[in-house]
Amino acid sequence: MSLRVHGLAKRYGEVPVFAHVDLAVAPGEFVAIVGESGVGKSSLLNCLAALDGWDAGSITWDGTDLGTLNEAQRAHWRREHLGFVFQAFHVLPHLDVAQNVALPLLLLNRPEPARVAAMLEAVGLAGLGARLPAQLSGGQLQRVAIARALVHRPRLILADEPTGNLDPATATRIMDLLIAQSRAHGTALVLVTHAATAAGRADRVLHLRAGGLVPERGEQTTGAMAESPSTATESGRREPDRLQTWLPESRP
Ligand SMILES: Nc1ncnc2c1ncn2[C@@H]1O[C@H](COP(=O)(O)OP(=O)(O)OP(=O)(O)O)[C@@H](O)[C@H]1O
Ligand SMILES: [Mg+2]
Repeated sequence: MSLRVHGLAKRYGEVPVFAHVDLAVAPGEFVAIVGESGVGKSSLLNCLAALDGWDAGSITWDGTDLGTLNEAQRAHWRREHLGFVFQAFHVLPHLDVAQNVALPLLLLNRPEPARVAAMLEAVGLAGLGARLPAQLSGGQLQRVAIARALVHRPRLILADEPTGNLDPATATRIMDLLIAQSRAHGTALVLVTHAATAAGRADRVLHLRAGGLVPERGEQTTGAMAESPSTATESGRREPDRLQTWLPESRP
């Protein structure tokens, strides 16, 4: 297993969000996490990325207990192994589209302009590399965030509502891309979604509840979930400073 989570619990102050979360994701496996708005899906992804702390339990990656790493080691681990699609995108406004997508490669000292160009093409943004984020639509910004999460071929992708702002055809294309990359490179893919069509393509669908992650029955996967739009703003408010932990000038 690449990713193992055991007995994870998260509180904000005295307010519990979830507890008893167990999860194991193998290389090349695609796990979808569903659940009602506010149940803690983004909070769980932030824990899995070691962007936020947790109150009980453990998260291990290839046997390394992320809880034992200090902030600098966590930042290094993220750069090396993780692609993260934030629910609210967090594309850097002062960099153009191509520079945003290239960022993970630059942080690894592996500039590969051809790979950046191929990634932009793959998400349907060929020709928009020189634009600033302010000149893009919401769905285009979401695809910049997805290209940035994939460009360095990380072994773990955590994606928070990655198709929430996309039309059905574009959403299908993006899901094709995520799944193809996961299969081709043995990437563990954990995807939070309200979209039944996206969840329906996963190897497993797990439902987050306050008491843990439970398997979703097949008919409930498609029947109980609505194709609701992304709710980016609430959890998005606290994420920009976390993005800084990828950046060279941030922390030691
Ligand atoms: N920094 C924070 N401080 C206090 N409470 C928070 C914080 N971030 C989130 N919460 C609360 O924790 C709960 C879980 O939030 P989270 O964003 O993880 O939910 P979610 O399942 O991702 O919801 P959605 O589907 O709407 O994106 C919510 O009740 C939210 O209000
Ligand atoms: Mg969320």
